[in-house]
Order: sequence, then structure tokens, then C-alpha cells
Amino acid sequence: MSGFARHAAVACLAVALLSGAGQSPAQAPSRPEALLRKMTLDEKLGQLVQRAGGRSKALNSRLDDAELDRVRAGTVGSYLHVAGAEPLAKLQKVAVEESRLGIPLLFAMDVVHGYRTIFPVPLAMAATWAPDAEERAARVAAEEATSAGLHWTFAPMIDIARDPRWGRIVEGAGEDPYLGARMAVAQVAGFQGGNSLRPGSLMATAKHFGAYGAAIGGRDYNTADVSERTLQEVYLPPFYAASRAGAGSFMAAFNDIAGVPTTANRDLLRGALRERWGWQGLLVSDWGAIGELLNHGVAADRAAAGVLALDASVDMDMVGAVYADDLKDAIAKDPARLKLLDEAVLRTLRVKEQLGLFDKPFAYNDPEREARELGSTEHRAAARAVARQSIVLLKNDRKLLPLDPAKLRSIAVIGALAADGLSALGSWRAQGKADEVVTVLAGITAAAPRTLKVLSAPGADPRNADLSGIPAAVKIAKAADVTVLVIGEDYDLSGESRSRSSIELPPSQLALAEQLLATGKPVVVVLANGRPLALSAIAEKAPAILETWMLGVEAGNAVADVLFGAYSPAGRLPAAFPRATGAVPSNYSANATGRPADPDLAKDTVRYHDLPITPLYPFGFGLSYSAFTYSELAQSTQEVGPGERIDVSISVENTGGVPSDEVVQLYVRDPVASIARPVLELRGFKRVELGAGQKKRVTFSLSPEQLAFWSNRGQWLVEAGRIDFWIGASSADLRAQGSFEITKTHTGSAPAAALPTRVIVSNN
Ligand code: BGC
Repeated sequence: MSGFARHAAVACLAVALLSGAGQSPAQAPSRPEALLRKMTLDEKLGQLVQRAGGRSKALNSRLDDAELDRVRAGTVGSYLHVAGAEPLAKLQKVAVEESRLGIPLLFAMDVVHGYRTIFPVPLAMAATWAPDAEERAARVAAEEATSAGLHWTFAPMIDIARDPRWGRIVEGAGEDPYLGARMAVAQVAGFQGGNSLRPGSLMATAKHFGAYGAAIGGRDYNTADVSERTLQEVYLPPFYAASRAGAGSFMAAFNDIAGVPTTANRDLLRGALRERWGWQGLLVSDWGAIGELLNHGVAADRAAAGVLALDASVDMDMVGAVYADDLKDAIAKDPARLKLLDEAVLRTLRVKEQLGLFDKPFAYNDPEREARELGSTEHRAAARAVARQSIVLLKNDRKLLPLDPAKLRSIAVIGALAADGLSALGSWRAQGKADEVVTVLAGITAAAPRTLKVLSAPGADPRNADLSGIPAAVKIAKAADVTVLVIGEDYDLSGESRSRSSIELPPSQLALAEQLLATGKPVVVVLANGRPLALSAIAEKAPAILETWMLGVEAGNAVADVLFGAYSPAGRLPAAFPRATGAVPSNYSANATGRPADPDLAKDTVRYHDLPITPLYPFGFGLSYSAFTYSELAQSTQEVGPGERIDVSISVENTGGVPSDEVVQLYVRDPVASIARPVLELRGFKRVELGAGQKKRVTFSLSPEQLAFWSNRGQWLVEAGRIDFWIGASSADLRAQGSFEITKTHTGSAPAAALPTRVIVSNN
């Protein structure tokens, strides 16, 4: 076949794929194809243009007459930072009734952890280790957002993050690709209402493809320089899982991987994502990222930047207007580019069709439903349930918690964050309102019986260095039976562009904690923050520590539920808490080295000589008001071959006398392979509800492909040999061990960490 003929055959195949399953080119064209044939070059480019409808704080503020004219001219395909059933219906009407081809607009927003009913930040939701809770949260967000005119959210963010200095660690599921993949799948299903786009779905966006979380030094937007193996085994699995889960959209990351800016990364976007993974959805740039290719120094002018992005298969240009303003001449100069443009337009139109917008362009615009859905009692109840599940008990000396309100006369609630509704919402708060938040102070006050006096003082605020309020706070604490000290980071210390050089508590928070802990009175530290913190300065002295992240509108009620024992905490850390900033990264899943990390050795091993070898709180860690025993480990086979599975099971009993969930975790290790493998990898988990005294059996069913690694030949390889496994309560609390043999070396077909382990829970 000549080069040209091969090219043409590939093009036909591409059109066939784009036009829908099983349809040959001879059949009647699909609606997107028919439209494409009628479109002018300007209209085609217009479909790929996404404009901002408002500045972040003034939603819809740019939707003026000039904007309506652009829509009439067919030169806009989508808006972001817009919302509202009525205003968006008006805008849609212009598109549908007054533009030449009547193509509906796509309306988008960052609905990340809620629209009006704000749930815990994603890192907190990952701490639930309960994908069903994640899914429920995303579903509620979607119900609200789709009633307010929105078709598309830029979530979930599924970047693996191993450097907590990176501010955006708060937006993801933490350090682990297996946990990350499960949370990614859950959110896609929740947003879209299933694993494909359909009328009424809130289209999910898997972002920021592919190694945004690996930004060097945790500095946002920075270069990632990861090996191909780390990319494949750690950073890409959640994306692969999201592609399989039917995410309608992907967003390319701002940063470069080893010098290739992702927006122009043809191998990763067109090659891996589209051709190898077979994903055919809508790929959007990040904000202005096509234009930023000039700053990266890979394009001499905007037209060149546009060509690079189009060639890489970036369909939609978020805000930058490179496609709109600079691509026309480049396309006129090289007709081959027209084919790339047509593909991008088809993918955009296809998404609009899948969402039902051609048939019912106003289906998402129902003001009555909007009024009913937003912040409904039912949604708030769901937010409270998830918020309670997100809380992690880090320390509880002499069972200080739960507090018994009947035995207390007074409680001091100290810290500016205790009354900071805005911070409880996190940095992506969509339409969340600070005055709708139940703060920790309000939650404790509401839960306290009349006999319990609630005293409060701000003490110190993480936003500034003012320590003048500390003496008053100390006085109140001294007068109270117990102090609840709410400290941490305000919402503006984590999130995009909010990387920190230090992950210690902000200085004012540390000063406040030190002075209160010096009173000798019982102090419960309630942490509110958006990243793992280095807590060495207070961890020894504080008798009880609760990690509560930023829990959303029901934060205070959830914290009160846990403080007073209405709910036993069972959240587990989705990322390790290092002992110091300099101990970053502290991820558990590190390769075996020639000098294994041995806590008993002061030297000659992989460690810092001035710090203990372990993180302060390891991945998967969290205490409970109850206690659990693990027993009767069993496995279905000693040997497993290609296409087979092995079941490993264990009994878990709640022996602590308090109803509580336990998160049962399965880790594996390939002890002898052709390359050094991680000392542990998570390959299964289950949050199990256990009444006092109750015992349940948890069975994990694994396939050998879940043990594959990325070989030096660039393929997933399952090597014959022994696999060790452990079941336990955290990555550092492994209770039972077994092993099995993989009988035959063979290739795998997917990223190992992306594949789900089947879990069955039975009563026994
Ligand atoms: C962020 C994205 C976000 C987009 C739109 C960008 O700055 O990186 O995550 O979706 O803005 O708000």
C-alpha cells in the first residue's frame, strides 16, 4: 500500500469510528457528519472555541450584546464559568434559533465537589476509601448542576500527587494509583449517571492528563520529569480507568513531561489516549494552554501553537482564542490540517448529540427543578454522611475521644478556622455559599446539650501572623473542661497556584497550638487543611488529633458527630503525612533498593539521618473508637495462570464494643522480578460496616494482570514467579500474609493499577 493509500485508509477508518459504531461510510451520515458538511471554516473553528462567561466571581458577567453576536455568528462552541437555568436558556436560545446552523452551546463549570451543596474536598473524599460515597457526592453535584443549565464539569481531577507541597493535591485522591483509579471511576459514574454520556448527564472531565501531579518540587505548572515506567504505572492508571469508565471529556495538563508540553504531546494524546486506549471523547486544553506553548518555547507564534495542539488532537481551546484567531491561515496553507479540524469538530458535535442537546437544547434549563434541587435537605444529608466518612482519627491517647457531653460542663472551641465557613468550602466552591456552611463552632453548639457551655475565641488566624488573640484564647481554654482547637490552613493555602515551600502548620497556628497545649488541659486538635501536613511539632504533645480537611457545608455537624461519639471515625489517609517538609516524598510504594529502608539502622540505608525512617502517619492509616481483629486468612489457589483469578479472604471482627467501619486493605509485592518492584502496592480495599461484636468475611478476587509491570520493552508484563500479599489495616499495619505463584510469563493489556479487584463481603 502506498503511503498515500495507507493514509486514506486510516482516514476512512477514523471517519467510520467517529460516525458511530458499526456504521459504514455508505450509510446516511450521522447528524454531526451532516452538519459538518454544511459548515464554513469559521463555523468549524467556532465550535472549538470555549469562552469564559464571567470572571470567576461574577458569573455570566460577560454575556453582553457583543457576546450574543458571537453566538449568532456561530463562532463559539462552549462557555465556561457560566450557570443558571434561566440565563443559560436565553443564551442557548440565541445559539439554537438565531445562528445559521442552530448548533447548541455546551455550558461548563468546575463543579468539583458540589455545585451548591458543597461536599468535602476531593482529598477528603478519598479518605473515605468508599468509592460509593464518592459516586453519591458526584451524583448530587450533577443533579444540582444539570438543573442549573450546566452540561459539563471539569472534574474529576485524578492526578496522582506525591509531593504535598503541591497545592492541587487537595483536588485529587492522593498518592496511590489504585485508590486513585477507583475514585476516578466512581466520580465519572456519579457525574455522568453511568458509564456513558446520555441526555441529562453532566459530562465528566478526567484531568489533567497525564503527569500534572508530578510537577518538580511541587511547584504548580512545573515540568514533570518522570520515567516512562513511573508514568505508566503511577500517573496514567487513573486516566486509563476513567477512559474505560466512559468519561466524555479529558483535559490536557498545563505542564510538560520531559520537555514535551502536554498540550502539544501528540504521542500521549493522539497516540496513547486515542489510538491505543481507543478513547474518542472531547479533549479540551487547560485555560489558555495552547497559547502558553509559546512560553514553553515550542512554538514561534500562535498559529504554530494552534497547529501543534490540533495535531496532538486537542479539540477545544479553553479561553485562549488561538484556534479562533490564528488557525485559519495555517489551515488554508495545508489542507491536510482540515481533516484534523474536521475530526475535532465531529468529536465536539458528537458530545452535544450524546447529551441530547440537538433534540432538547433546553433540557438542562428548568428553573423549578433548579430551585428544588439546590441545597435540598436530602443533598445536605448526603453531604453530612460523606463528611463524617472523610474524617481521620490520627491520635487518641487514653481514649480522650469521644467526648461525653453529659460529663462536661464547658467546652472551649478555639481557632479562627472554627468559625470560617468559607474555608470549609475549599478553593473550588462553584455556587457554594459561606453563610450556608455549618461551621465547627456552630456544629458543636448545635450538638451540645443545654448543660454544656460552649465558649469560643479565634486565637489566631492562618491568614496572618497576628498573635494578639492568643492570651484570650488561653484564658478561655483554662476555664473550660476540654478544648477543641481548630487549626490548619484556610482555603487559600491549597488549590491551584497555592503550592507551599513548607508543609508545616502556618506559624500563627503553630503558636496558638503550642500555647494551648502548654496549659496542661485536655486539648483535641481538629485539623482543617487541604494537604498532608508535617505535624511533628505538635503530634507528641496533643493527646487527640482529628484530621477533618475541608468538609463542605456540613463540616461542623460532621465534626460534632465524631467528637461526641455519634459516629466512629473510619477515614484513612490517602497520602502519607511526612515528618518534615524535607521528607517529601514519603509514599509507601517505593521501589526496593540495594539498601532497604530498615528502621533499626541509623546509617547505610535509605533514610535521612536526622529523622525517623517512617512517615509520621502512613498511607492508609486511621484510628477508630473501636478495635478489629483479623483472622482466618485463606486463598482459593496456590497457583494462578493467564485468564485465571485468585481469591484471598479474611475475617474481620469488631472487638472494640463500638459500631464502626473498618477499611480492609490488600497489598502485594513481586519479590523477584526482572526489574526492581515496589516494596508494597495497594491492590484492593473495602470499607466494611461492622456492628459491635460483628464479624464479616472479605474476599478479594485478583487476576495476574493486576501484577503486571511496565517492561523495558514498553509493554505490560506479568512475570512467572512468587507474589507475596498482605491484608491489613494500613500500609504499615499488615495483619496477615500469604503468597501464590504466577505460573506463566505473559503480557497484560492494561495498566495494572487501573484494573479493579472484585470484592465480596459476607457474614460469617
Ligand atoms: C485549571 C483547571 C480548570 C480551569 C477552568 C485552570 O486554571 O487548571 O483545572 O478546570 O482552569 O477553570
